[in-house]
Amino acid sequence: MTKSSAKTTAKTGGNPPRGFIGQPLARVDGPLKVTGRATYAYEHEHGGRPAYGHILGAAIAVGRIVGIDTTEAERAPGVIKVMTLRNAPVQPAFGPPVTPTVPEVFTRARPMLSTDRVRYYDEPAALVVAETFEAARAAAGLIRISYERDEGAFELAGRLGEAYAPGRTNAGFETDSAIGDFEGAFASAAVTVDTTYRTPYAHHNPMEPHATLAVWSGNQLTIHTGAQTLANFQAGLANTLGIPAENVRIVSPFVGGGFGAKLIVHPDTVLAAMAARELQRPVKIALTRQQMFANAGHRAEMIHQIRLGSDGDGRLTAMGYDVWSATSRFEEFCEQTAVFARSLYAAPNRLTRHRLVPVDLNRGEWMRSPGEAPGMLAFECAMDELADRLGLDPIELRRRNEPAEDPERGVPFATRNLVACMEEGARRFGWERRGATPARVQEGRKLIGLGMAAAIRPNYIGGAAARVAIDATGDVTVRLDMTDIGTGTYTILTQIAADVLGVPLSAVRVELGDSSFPRTAGSGGSWGAASSGSAVHDACSKLREKIVQAALPGDDAAGTEASFAGGEVRIGGRAERLSDLLRRVAPDGIEAEGAVQPFRQNDLYKDWSQHSYGAHFAEVAVDCDTGEIRVRRMLAVIGAGRILNAKTARSQILGGMAWGLGAALMENTVLDRHHGHFINHDLAEYHVAVNGDVPDMEVVFLEEHDDKANPLGAKGLGELGVCGAGAAVANAVYNATGVRVREYPITLDKLLPHLPTAAIQW
Ligand code: MOS
Repeated sequence: MTKSSAKTTAKTGGNPPRGFIGQPLARVDGPLKVTGRATYAYEHEHGGRPAYGHILGAAIAVGRIVGIDTTEAERAPGVIKVMTLRNAPVQPAFGPPVTPTVPEVFTRARPMLSTDRVRYYDEPAALVVAETFEAARAAAGLIRISYERDEGAFELAGRLGEAYAPGRTNAGFETDSAIGDFEGAFASAAVTVDTTYRTPYAHHNPMEPHATLAVWSGNQLTIHTGAQTLANFQAGLANTLGIPAENVRIVSPFVGGGFGAKLIVHPDTVLAAMAARELQRPVKIALTRQQMFANAGHRAEMIHQIRLGSDGDGRLTAMGYDVWSATSRFEEFCEQTAVFARSLYAAPNRLTRHRLVPVDLNRGEWMRSPGEAPGMLAFECAMDELADRLGLDPIELRRRNEPAEDPERGVPFATRNLVACMEEGARRFGWERRGATPARVQEGRKLIGLGMAAAIRPNYIGGAAARVAIDATGDVTVRLDMTDIGTGTYTILTQIAADVLGVPLSAVRVELGDSSFPRTAGSGGSWGAASSGSAVHDACSKLREKIVQAALPGDDAAGTEASFAGGEVRIGGRAERLSDLLRRVAPDGIEAEGAVQPFRQNDLYKDWSQHSYGAHFAEVAVDCDTGEIRVRRMLAVIGAGRILNAKTARSQILGGMAWGLGAALMENTVLDRHHGHFINHDLAEYHVAVNGDVPDMEVVFLEEHDDKANPLGAKGLGELGVCGAGAAVANAVYNATGVRVREYPITLDKLLPHLPTAAIQW
C-alpha cells in the first residue's frame, strides 16, 4: 500500500518560539505535493494490475430503457465486462425520498444499473470494464440503448405554483421562521425594499475528478478515493452493496478539492466496487469532467425575494426572506439559504421561508457554504438597496441594525465582531473614497465603484475522535480518519499536537484519511479544523496526563503541576528531557484517545449563538463602452476565533473570495430546459475565476479567542471567505454604474443596455 501520511518536515525558520498554533507555517505535506509523491485516488496502486471502467450515461432525462445492445461493445478489443441493468448484481432499493434531517441522506443505498427507469440525464446506464481506460471508453461508444422518453419538468420560475414546504432544510434547520407580525410591519414601514434576485445552477468543479480504485480481498473491500468524510463513504457503500460496514475500508490520504462534492458516494465508487467484486480484480473508475456535472452534485437554481422595511433612520422594523429552489424529484435537497438571515440583523418582525419546486434532475448537494453562498448574494445586495433608498452609508445601515443578542434564538453571541470587521475594513480599504451617489466616479472610460457586504457562517462542531501515540524517543504519531482536502489539515494538527506535548514539529507525524483510524466528521461545513483539532487537543492532553501518571506511579498525579515545553517535561518542579523520562518509565511508549462531541449535544451551542463573521470589500472598474467588469481590489476582514495557521487560513479565505468573485460575475451552469441537460459541462464553457480575473486581494484576521467554541478557541472559517464576497462585488458594480443586476452572474449583456453612457463626458 502506498504511504498515506505526511511526515512533518516543515521548515520553521530556525528555532521558533513555543506556540506553533497560529504561526503561518507552510504545509507539512507541501513537499509531497510538489514532488508528485502525494498519492491521489486514481494514482493508487494496490492489489495488482487494475482493470479500467468507463460509465455510459443515459441520453434522456426521464423515461425508460427499453432495449440495450452490448454485442459490439463486448467484442471490442480489451473489453472484459459490460455491465447493464440486465446483469448488474442485485442491490438494496434506493428507497423513498428522505428529508435532509435524516442522516441516511449521507449513507443510504445508492444502487446503480438496477432499474430501467431513468431519473436524470447522464444517469449511469452501463459500465464497460476493459484492460485500459481508452479501450473501455471506446467500447462504451458501441453500446446501443433505446429509450421511451417521458416529458420532464425543468423550469423553476414558471412553476412556483407547484412549490412545497420541505420538512426541514439541510443541516436540520426549521423550514420557516416567523417572529412578530412581518406583513403588518412591512406594510406600515416608512421605507421599504421588495426585491427579487436569481442565482443560477452552479457546480463545484474540484480540480481532482471523482475517482475510485476498488480492491477486494475475500469479503474485505478497500476503496481508494477522494472523500471528505470517510464514514459516509463507508456506510453508503456498505448499504449499497448489502455488506457490513466493517468489511469496507476507505483510504483517502489526499483529496484534490471537495467543496461538498465529495461528501457522499457517487457512481464511480459504487460501480468500481461492484465490478471489482464481479471480476475478482482491482477496478479503477474516474468520472469525466462532463459526467461530474450530472453525477456529482450541483447547487440548485434559486429565486430569492427579500422584503425589508425600516424607519426613516434605517432601523429595520421588518425583515422577510422567501426563497424558492429547484430540487430533485426523487431525492430532496433544501439548501438552508435563508437561515443565516435569522441571526444577522436586528428587526422585531421577521419571516424566513424555504420552498422547493421538483425538477427531473439529479439531487443537488452541499456546495461550499450551503446557504450563505447563494443567500448572501441576494440578501446583502438587498441591504445595499435599502441603504441606497435611505441615503445611508451601507456600513452605517448595518451598524444601526446590530443586534444585542441572537434575534431569533434569544441567546447571546459567543463572539461577534461584525461591526469591528466592517470598521477595520473601511479604514484599510479607503471606504471614505466611495461616492455616495452611483456612477459618479470616473477614470477615463472606466466607471469606478466600491462595494461591501457582511459575512456570516455558523460555527459547527462535528463529532471527532483521535488517537495519539508517543514512543520512547519522543516521536508522536497522531491518527484520525479526518481528511485534508487541500485545506491544511495535516499542518494544523501537527501544530496542535506539537504545542500540547511541547515537542518540535519534526517529532509529530499526522496520519489521516483511513477509515480504520478513529472516526471524525471529516471535512465539511467549515467544521474540520475545530472538530478534528479539538479531538487531537483532547487526545494529546490525555497523553500528557498518562505521561505524568507513569512518572509518578502511586502518587496523586492529578494534583501535580506539570508542563511540557521544548522537548522537556517539568513535573513538580523537576525537569527532564521527555525522551529520557519515557525511556525510563514507558519504554514501550504510551497511547491516548481523545474526542469532541457534535455541537447539537453541546450546551455551549444551546446557550450561545456561534458564528464566524467578516466584512468584504471590493473595488471594480466597468468599461462604459463595453460593459466589461474588472475587479481591482478585494479585502476581507475576518473574525473567526483563534487562527490556527495564519497562512492556511488566509488561503482558505482567498479561495472563497475568488469564488465569490466568480459567483458574482461568471459561474453559471446553463440548463437545457427541454432536455434536462447541463449544457456547458466543462471548464471551457463553465467559467470560474482564474488568475487573470483575481485582483489584489487582502485578508486581515481580527484577534479573537472564542472560549465558548472549543478548547482551541477557534471557529470555522473555511467557507466564510465566499459568504458575502460576491455581494461586495455586485454592490461595487452598482456603485460604479447605478445599474442593479438582480440575475446572477452579472455578465456584460445584462449591464450594457443600462449603462449611463449618455451622462459620461469625455
Ligand atoms: Mo462543505 S459544502 O460541507 O464541503
